[in-house]
Formats: sequence, structure tokens, C-alpha cells
Amino acid sequence: MPVPSVLVCEDYADLSRTAADLVAERLAQKPALNLLAATGNTPMGLYAELVSRRDALDVSRVRVFQLDEYAGVGIEDRRSLLGWLVRSFTAPLGIPEDRIVRLDTAIEPAAACAAFEETLREAGGFDLAILGIGSNGHLGFNEPPSDAGAPTREVTLSAQSVETSAGYWGDAEVPTRALTVGMRELLASREIVLLASGAPKRAIVRRALGGAVTPEVPASFLQEAKRVTAVLDRAAWCGEDEA
Ligand code: PGA
Repeated sequence: MPVPSVLVCEDYADLSRTAADLVAERLAQKPALNLLAATGNTPMGLYAELVSRRDALDVSRVRVFQLDEYAGVGIEDRRSLLGWLVRSFTAPLGIPEDRIVRLDTAIEPAAACAAFEETLREAGGFDLAILGIGSNGHLGFNEPPSDAGAPTREVTLSAQSVETSAGYWGDAEVPTRALTVGMRELLASREIVLLASGAPKRAIVRRALGGAVTPEVPASFLQEAKRVTAVLDRAAWCGEDEA
């Protein structure tokens, strides 16, 4: 059974550089990369690092796939996760919006999810998925319980995810429904990079990478995925006694 590789970095800046090295290497190997890119706070340092290396990267053929979005929220809404991805990653890297595959919140959710999956299939699947982990063990908005076969779909957010989202948007109202790329599609990615930073993530990282494989911790299915590298900082990995 595959075991995730763990890269332990000194701190968040080191984590961001290490993950950027990995993404840059994959892009150099395959410029027409199908890249799934999460939002959330954790990958922002990676994206900033890639943007700072822009002149050395060929992104002319990359396709970027969105991981999740609040139901009914369009890109013009300040809470849009796609908007966040565009501002932090694709626009400053010069990737045009027509090379972003989105979860279309303007149409009926089931149709949007089916269209996303179809586009993904036609593109040949994800080459690389950049993921964070929720403190409840979710990947994207695959909330517990989510099994390994869960498709791209509309979901109800857990209380924990609503709370995390509230932290992103200040006092703005947080939607409670969302569209997420499914566990099935994520786990089929040819490679996955899981990012986690800070002591609050330590317990869930341990459960995900070393605990029982269970729908109660969706990220634990990464233990069975093809090629997973967890890029963590020391705080997310070691206890005080182990540091
Ligand atoms: P974070 O979110 O990167 O902001 O910690 C991760 C997640 O909830 O999936």
C-alpha cells in the first residue's frame, strides 16, 4: 500500500518554497499540466512563491482546475473561492481565465458537477493536486463522512468549515452549501501535494497520515492514493517533545 512521503520544513516560508520547487519541477516536466489548485490560507505562500518565480516558469499550457466553491456564489462576489484563486495565483502568473476549469455556480449544481467531471475526463485527469486539510479532516469540501468514491457534488458545509470560512471573509455571511470536487476525482490524481502549517493542524495531520483510514477523516484516504507528498512545517508535524 502506498505511504505518503512527508517533507518536514522549518517554517511556513520554507514549506512554501519547498512546495514551489516541486510544482515548478512538475511544470518543467509537463508544461501542459492539469493542475488542481486549492484555496484556503495554506497554499497562499506557495502561490506567492510561484508568482515570484514567474519569469522562470512556462505556464503557457497549464490548465488550472478549481477545487471548490460556495453554491450560488459567482466570481464577482468577494467571498468567491474562484475569485481568490484568480487574484492570488492565476492572474499574477498570467494564466488566462479560459484555462481555468471552474465549478459553474450559475447553473444547476448537479449539471455543473457533471460538466466539471466531463471536462476533467476529456483532459485526462489531474496530473497534480495541491490540497490543504481542514481541521476536521476534509479535502476540498468533502466533509466527514466522505468515502473514497464520493463524486463531485453539492454538499452542506460542516459547522467547522463555516467557521473557517468566516475567518476568510470577516463579517460577511458565509454560505452553508458548496460544490466540491469529489474524493473519487482527487484520489485518482497522478500526484497529490498536501500542505499543512501550524500547530492547530498537528492532530488532524497525524490522524490523516497515520491513523485509521476512514470516511470520518476523508484525508486519511490519502494513505491509499498513488503518489502523495505531505509538505508540512515543523509545527504541523512535531509535538513540543519531538521538536
Ligand atoms: P486553510 O484551510 O488552508 O485555510 O487552513 C484548509 C481547509 O479548510 O481545507
